[in-house]
Amino acid sequence: MSTPSHRYHITTFGCQMNKADSERMAGILEEMGFAWADEPDDADLILYNTCTIRDNAEQKVYSYLGRQAKRKQEQPGLTLVVAGCVAQQEGEKLLRRVPELDLVMGPQHANRLRDLLEQVLDGNQVVATEPVHIMEDITKPRRDSTVTAWVNVIYGCNERCTYCVVPNVRGVEQSRTPEAIRSEMEALGQQGYKEITLLGQNIDAYGRDLPGVTPEGRHQHTLTDLLYYVHDVPGIERIRFATSHPRYFTERLIRACAELPKVCEHFHIPFQSGDNEILKAMGRGYTQERYRRLIETVRSYVPDAAISADAIAGFPGETEAQFENTLTLVGEIGFDQLNTAAYSPRPGTPAALWENQVSEAMKSDRLQRLNHLVATKAAQRSQRYLGRVEEVLVEDRNEKDPTQVMGRTRSNRLTFFPGNITQLKGQLVQVQITEARAFSLTGQVVGKLRH
Ligand code: SAH
Ligand code: SF4
Ligand code: F3S
Repeated sequence: MSTPSHRYHITTFGCQMNKADSERMAGILEEMGFAWADEPDDADLILYNTCTIRDNAEQKVYSYLGRQAKRKQEQPGLTLVVAGCVAQQEGEKLLRRVPELDLVMGPQHANRLRDLLEQVLDGNQVVATEPVHIMEDITKPRRDSTVTAWVNVIYGCNERCTYCVVPNVRGVEQSRTPEAIRSEMEALGQQGYKEITLLGQNIDAYGRDLPGVTPEGRHQHTLTDLLYYVHDVPGIERIRFATSHPRYFTERLIRACAELPKVCEHFHIPFQSGDNEILKAMGRGYTQERYRRLIETVRSYVPDAAISADAIAGFPGETEAQFENTLTLVGEIGFDQLNTAAYSPRPGTPAALWENQVSEAMKSDRLQRLNHLVATKAAQRSQRYLGRVEEVLVEDRNEKDPTQVMGRTRSNRLTFFPGNITQLKGQLVQVQITEARAFSLTGQVVGKLRH
């Protein structure tokens, strides 16, 4: 198996957590002697890292799998792996549905890929979905970018939002130690990475499962403490974190973001609904008033902060008036970006069993109205950048225009400007903004560059 002629391809669905897991699994495969194949059809090992957050995400996986299962009938040497959240949710059932599969592995098993593949080589069909303590990572991820990197800080989620599969498929919260996180960041800094995004499904829960309390009686390791602890890692210029839960987002954390120059002025704080009854049914543990106060506090410390969030349209029982409360909140807060979705009933979640489901037609009508408002509001918010000089970290060339490069402002706005990627990749550049669209900007380099 470790001959260099073996090639692999990974297709990743879903969130940043899955992307980070895929990079670690790719690192393991390369250590085993596999080389990346651009085309899945050229690969001897195909891994789908799957998402089940909504039904359409899950169905996409089955359509991809069908094709490769057929290929396997002609090419029995092909190894087919399903990893991630669909694998965890379906487990053995996936083997019955797609008997050609060699390995079904949940997200907690990502770091064990080598072991699991060795069992496959011994001729077994393997299902790894039992809950495990996530091993500290010893392999080097094969990262997609040489400029920005993900660093996991907490796995899993202990919340029980009534619509959400994540706790079922990602398991209970498991924090990495501050030392492990810092040393991964130091290695990234040495390799030339400039921006780190600290990752967790409920990142504000960081440290609750680690030992130690302060004399004042709070957990010794919180996200706020972690930010102070990793802030001076050499080479790293920007730090981001996601995803935050409004219920746990503290003023102390906001103050740290304002104080620490490397922490970017962007807050991703999902609210899900602007209606208190719906928030209660979702089990979110806050009211829309409390969410508004939180955003006010953020803005009092960081006036120009970019705010983004997630919201769901058509949760069971949602009336037109309740949906309009979401529209009102979106209209009044002025989000820079909002990820929206129509509610999708998920297996193993309480809300899926309720009888007060909203019709598909109504859900999609509400989603459209919400998206329309979001685009209008984001376009207005974008106007504030016109004429301003923004610091942009250059990530890549502009796929659509090779004379331009693309990067992000500290507030996470996608920005394009004329330039040569070989000179600019990984650089922080001062860019004057000349055009502002709803979700992206265009500009010109001004002033000097800095590494
Ligand atoms: N941990 C984060 C996000 C988790 S999933 C949080 O607490 O906000 C990402 C987003 O998917 C959620 O914020 C939610 O808006 C959406 N989502 C989750 N389950 C969903 C479902 N059943 N139907 C529609 N959208 C859903
Ligand atoms: Fe899902 Fe809620 Fe956990 Fe977010 S906090 S991952 S929405 S259960
Ligand atoms: Fe999807 Fe799993 Fe992430 S369900 S959104 S890939 S945690």
